[in-house]
Amino acid sequence: MNAPTLTPRRFGRLIGVSLGPGDPDLITRRGWAALQSGARWAYPVKRAEESSYALDIARRGGLAVPDDAVELVFPMTRDAITLAKAWARAAAQTLQLLAEGRDLAFLVEGDASTYSTFRHLARAVRELAPEVEVDTIPGVSSFAAAAAVADLALAEEDETMAVIPAAYGTAVIDHLLDEFDTVVLMKVKPLLDEVLDLLARRGLLASSCFVEKVGAPKQRVVHDVASLRGEKVNYLSLLLVQNPKRQRGELRRGCRKRAEQQAVTAVS
Ligand SMILES: C[S@@+](CC[C@H](N)C(=O)[O-])C[C@H]1O[C@@H](n2cnc3c(N)ncnc32)[C@H](O)[C@@H]1O
Repeated sequence: MNAPTLTPRRFGRLIGVSLGPGDPDLITRRGWAALQSGARWAYPVKRAEESSYALDIARRGGLAVPDDAVELVFPMTRDAITLAKAWARAAAQTLQLLAEGRDLAFLVEGDASTYSTFRHLARAVRELAPEVEVDTIPGVSSFAAAAAVADLALAEEDETMAVIPAAYGTAVIDHLLDEFDTVVLMKVKPLLDEVLDLLARRGLLASSCFVEKVGAPKQRVVHDVASLRGEKVNYLSLLLVQNPKRQRGELRRGCRKRAEQQAVTAVS
């Protein structure tokens, strides 16, 4: 019988390496191993040759940036044409690198599946070459780390939680505060004053916390959120809002009842 022939992989793997939101101690062992696996590094920047927050996390962790690490430009703009061009360029560049047959570790700030360029990049690359293998290494999200440094729980027992970009606006946020015990407002910078007005109207300033650059050297945790009015905060910031006054509906406890019954049967 003939031995099966192994077809060499045409492309290297695209690996999304979550680095956590700033503190290099929050890089997972799997993420750390991927960075040291010999894969080529790629990191996101907003403009060519600008500093990269993700790359800086790895650097602060004591890792030397490989000489052949490449930057991929993802501009911060809402202009659809500029964005489409930038994405097409980044995807083509990524595919060209993967075609060398070497794995590519894309450095991601926070968690790679949470509002991250990585999933979008992976999709765009697979549109060009569906056979490209993608590996996502999960990590600590900004809001999980923010809750920890703020000494707050995101959700306990039966509590509910929503995570949204603040850009949905205050009418939507107002509605969500009726439905969820905790609302995490990501990308809060452009709407901060409007959101503070809403929180003041609803009497929720005291149960809110603002966290900026969590885990980075310039981390800031502000419990007196009203003091932020008029301030130009950093893009890497979020608000954790808890609504202790939320009216809860009745919980359907079917599953819990069944589990309790099984436990009783097992004992008797
Ligand atoms: C494009 S999203 C990236 C989210 C990230 N992948 C995560 O897992 O949290 C950017 C938004 O995430 C939040 N964010 C990311 N890093 C942060 C940090 N170090 N401190 C506070 N907020 C952060 C901010 O709301 C920021 O506007």
